[in-house]
Amino acid sequence: MKNRKLLAANWKMHLSLTAAQALASETTQLYAREVTSGLRVVLAVPHPYLLAVRHLCKDHPNLAVAAQNLHQEAQGAYTGEVSAEMIASCGAEYVIVGHSERRLLYGETDELLLAKTQRALAAGLHPIYCIGETLTQREAGQTEQVIEHQLHTGVLKLNHAQLEKVVIAYEPVWAIGTGRNATPEQAQDVHADIRAAIATQFGATEAQAISILYGGSVKADNARALFAMPDIDGALVGGASLSSRSFIDIALAL
Ligand code: PGA
Repeated sequence: MKNRKLLAANWKMHLSLTAAQALASETTQLYAREVTSGLRVVLAVPHPYLLAVRHLCKDHPNLAVAAQNLHQEAQGAYTGEVSAEMIASCGAEYVIVGHSERRLLYGETDELLLAKTQRALAAGLHPIYCIGETLTQREAGQTEQVIEHQLHTGVLKLNHAQLEKVVIAYEPVWAIGTGRNATPEQAQDVHADIRAAIATQFGATEAQAISILYGGSVKADNARALFAMPDIDGALVGGASLSSRSFIDIALAL
């Protein structure tokens, strides 16, 4: 069976170039010294730092770089936007698509996110496709419905060859940056539903192969319990990835 384990850092809109370079080198050094499992680690960094961080990771075959967003068109008069090809040409291998901050703050819709996913795939990037319910939706008992809708309008519209390149991240919106994380059981329930939906649409082999990450206030001290769940294959880590020590501690728990 394919090794599904993957740990991704989401640096969001933090750090100066100098601080980003320092964090990338500390993280790669700690990784090289301590992580012996061959775990795949992805650093999602601000666009202007892609090249520099890629350069610092390039000697480590298990470390990759990601962008945090892309534009849905291949090129054109879209001032200020960044294309999939630009991201790929900086040496990034992944791109986050549909982070809840993009969905909520920039009104990114499921349709737009599918277009972005397809554009990323066409450029040879692995999309890290984010889904997750808000607190209101969870409290109204709509989690399953919301996840199903986000899957049906997103990754379930891809073909087999495309799906193989995708990583899914389940990030309950109420757990992001709040210090309030889903219990391992709550997360496992949703991860199992996601895998079942993939199995129904694409088959058991594809469902067993896809990496499903959990995201939302993952820290070194809650990571192990989350990773003990059978359908949690890793994490997308925001705040705790801004310290190389805490991020590598999470890697050691996986
Ligand atoms: P957090 O962010 O770990 O700071 O909650 C996770 C994310 O937004 O991907």
